Formats: sequence, C-alpha cells, structure tokens
Amino acid sequence: MQIYRGGHPARLGSHGVNGQHEYRPVYQTSLVDPAEFWTHAAEAIDWDRPPTQVVDAAARPVPRWFPDARLNTCVNALDRHLPERADQPALIYDSAVSEGSRTYTYAELLREVAEFAGAMLRLGVRAGDRVIIYLPMIPEAAIAMLACARIGAVHSVVFGGFAAPELAARIDDAEPVLIVTASGGIEPTRRIEYPPIVLRALDLATTTAPRNVIVKQRKRFQAIDFEAPREAVESSDTLPSSDRTVAARWLDWDEAVQDVEPADPVSVAATDPLYILYTSGTTGKPKGVVRDNGGHAVALAWSMRNIYDVGPGQVMWAASDVGWVVGHSYIVYAPLLVGATTVLYEGKPVGTPDAGAFWRVVAEHSVHVLFTAPTALRAIRKSDPEARLARPHDLSSLRALFCAGERLDPATYEWAVDTLLADRPDCPVVDHWWQTETGWPIAADPLGLQQLPIKPGSSSVPVPGYRLRVLDAEGNPVPPGTEGNIVIGLPLPPGALTGLWRDEPRFLRSYLEAFPGHYLTGDSGYLDDDGYLYVLGRSDDVINMAGHRLSAGSIEAAIAGHAAVAECAVIGLADELKGQRPIAYVVLKEGVDIERDRLRAELTTRVREQIGAIATLHDAIVVAALPKTRSGKILRKSIRQITAGDDYDMPSTIEDPAVLVALADQILSGRTPIAPIGAPDADPA
Ligand code: COA
Ligand code: AMP
Repeated sequence: MQIYRGGHPARLGSHGVNGQHEYRPVYQTSLVDPAEFWTHAAEAIDWDRPPTQVVDAAARPVPRWFPDARLNTCVNALDRHLPERADQPALIYDSAVSEGSRTYTYAELLREVAEFAGAMLRLGVRAGDRVIIYLPMIPEAAIAMLACARIGAVHSVVFGGFAAPELAARIDDAEPVLIVTASGGIEPTRRIEYPPIVLRALDLATTTAPRNVIVKQRKRFQAIDFEAPREAVESSDTLPSSDRTVAARWLDWDEAVQDVEPADPVSVAATDPLYILYTSGTTGKPKGVVRDNGGHAVALAWSMRNIYDVGPGQVMWAASDVGWVVGHSYIVYAPLLVGATTVLYEGKPVGTPDAGAFWRVVAEHSVHVLFTAPTALRAIRKSDPEARLARPHDLSSLRALFCAGERLDPATYEWAVDTLLADRPDCPVVDHWWQTETGWPIAADPLGLQQLPIKPGSSSVPVPGYRLRVLDAEGNPVPPGTEGNIVIGLPLPPGALTGLWRDEPRFLRSYLEAFPGHYLTGDSGYLDDDGYLYVLGRSDDVINMAGHRLSAGSIEAAIAGHAAVAECAVIGLADELKGQRPIAYVVLKEGVDIERDRLRAELTTRVREQIGAIATLHDAIVVAALPKTRSGKILRKSIRQITAGDDYDMPSTIEDPAVLVALADQILSGRTPIAPIGAPDADPA
C-alpha cells in the first residue's frame, strides 16, 4: 500500500509510484482488514492525539473512524507544510471574469486564514458554532472554510447560484451564528448582488438570526454602507421587512480582520463535524450531509496519492465550485492536505472568453491533474469541435483528466481522447463516480496504485474501502451485466458522511433502511465480468443538470405555488449538453384558463426565483391528470419512461390506469411535443 506521510516529500516521487502497488491486493486488504489499512493511511496525518482505535464498530447509527483521536484539519492543510513549503504556491486564484487573479503561498494563505479565524473569534464564534459561507469563486471562500476548520467552527457553504429561499432553508437548518458573503458574483452575462439575496433569505428564515454578516467587498460592486446595511443594500424592489434582518450586524471583511490577533488552531475530536454540506434529496428539503474531521483528512490524503496521483508541489485543478462537494474536497482540502497547489478558477469553460479558457489555465499554471464535469467538456466540444483553441497552449504538464458529476458518455470520452488529447496518449481520461455523501470517489481508475485499462462508459473499479454491490429490489446480488441498485456494504470508509445534520431518522430512512447492512447510493447500474462499474443514472427523483444535483421535489414545490396549478410532476429529460433538464407536467386548477406561453414563462420565473438560475425549466406541459398509486403517490417512474419513449410499466398499485394511458397517448401521439421554453410554441392549442 502506498502511504503518504504529510510533510515528507522525499518519500514521494513526482509520478513514480504508479504501478508499484497493484490495485487488487490493495482493494482486498482494505476490505479484509480495514483497521490495518486505515491505520497506515492515518499516518499521513499529523494528529494532536494519534488514534489508538481505528473504528468504533459499535457506534450508531454508523461506525465512527478514529474515535479517540484529536487533530486540527487546518493545521494539516497549512501549518505543517510551512517548514518546507512556505514560499510554494498553495492556492492560485485565476479569474477569467475579473481583474483579481492572485497566487497565495502557503505562508500567505496561512496568515490570511489565521487572521480571518481571529476575526471570527473576536465576533464570538466558537468551536461547534455553524458559519454559512455564501460566496462566489473568490479566495475568501477557501479562506473562510479553512478559518472555520482552524477554530473548530462548522462551515456550511451554500452555492452562490442558489436563490434566497434555498439559502433560507439552509439558514433554518444549520442555525448559523455568522454568514460570510460578498458584495457580488460575476456571471458572463450579468453581475449578481449577494447582499439583497442574503437579506431576503434572512427575512424568509424562521429561526434565530445569525449575530453577524461579514461582507467581502469586491471592486466592481457598489460599496456597502455598513452603518445602514438594510437601506444601503436594498434595491428598488420592495423587500419584505422584519426585525430579523436588521438584528444581524453587517461588517466589512477587511475591517473585520484589521488589527486582529491571528487565531491559534483548536484541537478537535476526529469525530467532530468539520462541515455540513446540503444536497438535494427527493423532497424539497435539502439534506445536511455531515463530514467529520479525522476520517475526512485521512481519506482525502489517501485519495490524492492513490487515485489522482498528485503529491507535494504538484498542481491540481478541480474546475468546479466551492459550493459543491468537488470544490470542498478537491479545490480546498485534499490538495492542501498533501502540500500540493490548488487552482481556484472563477469563470466558465466557454464564454470567458472562449472555449480555450481551460487550456489557458492548464498551461499557465502547469496543471498536473484537471478535474471537470463532462458537461463542461461537451460545452467546449460544441463550441470548438476540433479543439483548435487548445492547440496554442502547452498542455504537456497534464498527467490526467478526471471527470465526475455525471457519467462521462462514450462520445465525449472519445472526443477528449481522440481530438483534445490526440497528441497525449500518456494522459488518461478517467471517469470516476462519487457523491456529496461519500466526499471522495467510490469507483475510479486508481492511477496512483495501478493504471487499469479504461472502458468508455464505465467509472472503472471500486475504490479501496468501498464494498460495492449491485442488488435487486429484494436485496439479492444480481449477476454481472444486470442492472440494479448500487449499494455500499457498511461500514462506509473514512471520509463518508456520518449523518444528516440533526436528522437521524431521515439519515436512516434515506440511506440505511432499504437494504439492511448497506448504504443506498440512489444510483442504479451494473458491474461487468471484470468488476467494472457502469452507473446508469438515479433511481430516485434527483435530477442531474450540468453536473448540478437538483431535487424534483423542490422544483415541484416552486411550481405548485403558482395560482393556476393544482398539482405537478417534475422529471429529468435527457439533454445533449447538460445531461438532463427538468420538465414539468402540470394539472391546472378546475376552471382555470391560462395561455400556455404565459404559464410556461411564469413557472420558469418561479423556479429561477425559488431555486436559482441553474434550475432552468425546459418545458411545462399541461395534462388532464397525473398517474398515481392508490395511496396518492405520483408515478414518476412511469412518467419518466413515457417521456423517454421507453416501454412503460403499468404498476399494479395504480389508482386509475386510464390516466397513464391518456398521458402516454398525449405525449407519444405528438400532440404535446416537448419544446424548450423560449422556442416557438409547438402546441398552440
Ligand atoms: N451564481 C449565480 N448564477 C449562476 C451561477 C453562480 N455561481 N452558476 C450558474 N449560474 C447561472 C448562470 O448565470 C445561468 O444564468 P442565465 O440562465 O441567466 O444565463 C444559469 O445559472 C445556468 O448556468 P449554467 O448551468 O452554468 O449553464 P450555462 O448554459 O450558462 O453553461 C455549462 C453551461 C456547461 C458551461 C455550465 O453548466 C458548466 O460549466 N457546467 C459545469 C458545472 C460543474 O462544473 N459542476 C460541478 C460538478 S463536479
Ligand atoms: P453530487 O452529490 O452533487 O456530487 O451528485 C452525485 C450524483 O451525481 C451521483 O449520485 C450520480 O447520480 C451522479 N454522478 C456523479 N459522478 C458520476 C459519474 N462519474 N458517473 C455517473 N453518475 C455520476
């Protein structure tokens, strides 16, 4: 087994261990003797109190890793690297949309983190308190996260593209004492002012207000008058007023850190929460995935060396957003835990300014490993099919291109290999599969252990630590090549979620009850004869749009609030660029007559306002009724099958088969073709 011991780069070749440790025996050891396996892996971490027990198997509801150990994650990410790499770049902020690019060395990043941690302490933030971070892709996002880790506060980063109601739901659940935000974010076509969104979220939230809101003022945005925050940030729209928004004190980031005493790290238990990251479930209420400190640090450090094959001094670029798990794990924590350099990119794969943006960043910063979503590659391919915009750039530093967020479809894989990287046969394109809940890859080609042959369409083999199985509805393993529910045998490895924030019943219900002894991933797929995994899609009502995970339930809630709508069902429609797009089947209230285009436009606006622009509705189709079970549950699976043009099941539990037949007739007869909103109306009737 390859062990990386933090801070000792001499033990790590630049790319040299590949092939020294074969995958199979390492995988077997991880399952047969997990204690031995993770004891070794834990040596990569600097502990305040090293673990004497690896796993507490008796802990409920799930076993806990390193139960008697103590550490500080920020120390492991920053302080411990200083003796050897104080002047090495730790974080490269590359902005394609503003003038603010900057490189932070380890010494500089530590100074900024310790100061911000000191500012939070001065405001009374203590270990265990929650801090919501609602920021665009600027370095302050990583600084605030690491600063929370330094003082033992629990951060909850909210993706900057979420609208006020989504932010409010997270405020209500996490009950933060502090919100960290910025004056705004920059999208290619517009600028988004964050303070009005925060104010509105505070108005919508029903729990106690946070004591403070810290705002990073950005050059391009109007300066905020912190003496009178409400008046200053209120736009011309009339925001609902309440005492709550006024109660929070608004502070400028730069002033908050002025003359502050840099904070020393606080030692926390390995099992203490490092962060809560909300993700979409099947209902409208987001799930607060809780990650601990110790298991997280061990698993991420192990993954850097053994999966990505990135070590100290090398550059990793995860082209995601800090608001998603990929950003948490592979923009912020993992690269820093192993003394590597991370790139934080503010921009898009296309349009900032063109489809060569990614290749410029790779060349300028000598990126070793690029991690992106297939949808980004598809967007680049669409705009630059011959990859001409990559040619002027020197991509020789690139050792691997990893993809996740959705399945890397074979056509995109082949384009990446045959066109984009045609002159780089030594640079593998690796699909790997994981989710917010696990925090790090479940299936991958583990380049640092052994580069296995790649099979297009597959996310390769189970990663050591994950007891992967595919089960039928009754919980029996299915033979190779047969689709079923992908599950993971317990215990989950270190780094995986330890629960849902203050909601154990939901944790049990969502993940552990369907197949006792197993964690339910919510994905379906199959293993082939060689043990390669093929993930085919979600088996629940989660929609994956442009690598963003959206809940059908929350889109439905936004639509159901429209005065004309009696009920609705939202499903994901296959989309060439974004993987899926949500479409809604809508039943109108009796007697309501509304022009179809107006309804579609109003529903789209509602979804954007309630969830965010990332959840753009593709179409809204008026139907007479929705097929349901006798207990009133909408039969989304059947609707999905009809929409996709597949054979559909007539479930035995259906209340009225005629409703399903009528729906199928309406869709399949072409009387209601699905048309993107904004396109000419295909069904004026
Ligand atoms: N803050 C505010 N708004 C945001 C946002 C953010 N952080 N991110 C996206 N949006 C908005 C966009 O401005 C856009 O608004 P518009 O409809 O008013 O133009 C809308 O949300 C949709 O954006 P997006 O999903 O980015 O679609 P796009 O058509 O602009 O771009 C891609 C298409 C493929 C280039 C883009 O989706 C992409 O880069 N995807 C990769 C996603 C990713 O990396 N996910 C992480 C998984 S690992
Ligand atoms: P998230 O929690 O937002 O990271 O989304 C996780 C979900 O995205 C998974 O459960 C899958 O449905 C999907 N997903 C992520 N990576 C892949 C992949 N490589 N192949 C197939 N699906 C993926």
